[in-house]
Amino acid sequence: MAILKVARMGHPVLRRVADAVGPDEIGSDAIQRLIDDMIDTCREYDGAGLAAPQVHVSKRVVLLEISGNPRYPDAPDFPLTVVINPEVEPLDTTRQMVWEGCLSVPGLRGLVPRSSQVRLHGFDRVGQPLEVTTGGFPAAVVQHECDHLDGRLYVDRMESMESLSFLEEFDRHSRANADSPVNED
Ligand code: NI
Repeated sequence: MAILKVARMGHPVLRRVADAVGPDEIGSDAIQRLIDDMIDTCREYDGAGLAAPQVHVSKRVVLLEISGNPRYPDAPDFPLTVVINPEVEPLDTTRQMVWEGCLSVPGLRGLVPRSSQVRLHGFDRVGQPLEVTTGGFPAAVVQHECDHLDGRLYVDRMESMESLSFLEEFDRHSRANADSPVNED
């Protein structure tokens, strides 16, 4: 188990479309170690989720975990969920506006439009099919992490740069209600 270095915006690995993990590859030492190290890394840096390209591995692996997270103090808990070859299915056309941050874009927050309900499909770390339905903030995290696998960062999804804020200013001026997504249209 190890804490890995996190790629920051500007590193080409964050802009690549990540490769699918083959069915025979899921049980390999390399993938299992990657997952363990991603869990350690996400917890160390208080991420709500992490995608493999963020630790310089261009593979379709993501994880989510929200539990008493100081970076997102009011976010609802979401159990540790590792998903291989994930696909996101939006379940409604309602959008929510969510304040997002990213370990690869340190020190910033911005408002991002996201589907408010999604179904996440994929495989768990032992290769069993997995399906999770979620809404609100965890749904935004699902979309954010899966975007990383297609070389997309949350700043690409922002409709306006006006909300982009340094974390310190966000805490002073916009933190109130920030972890309760604002539903739009
Ligand atoms: Ni991110």
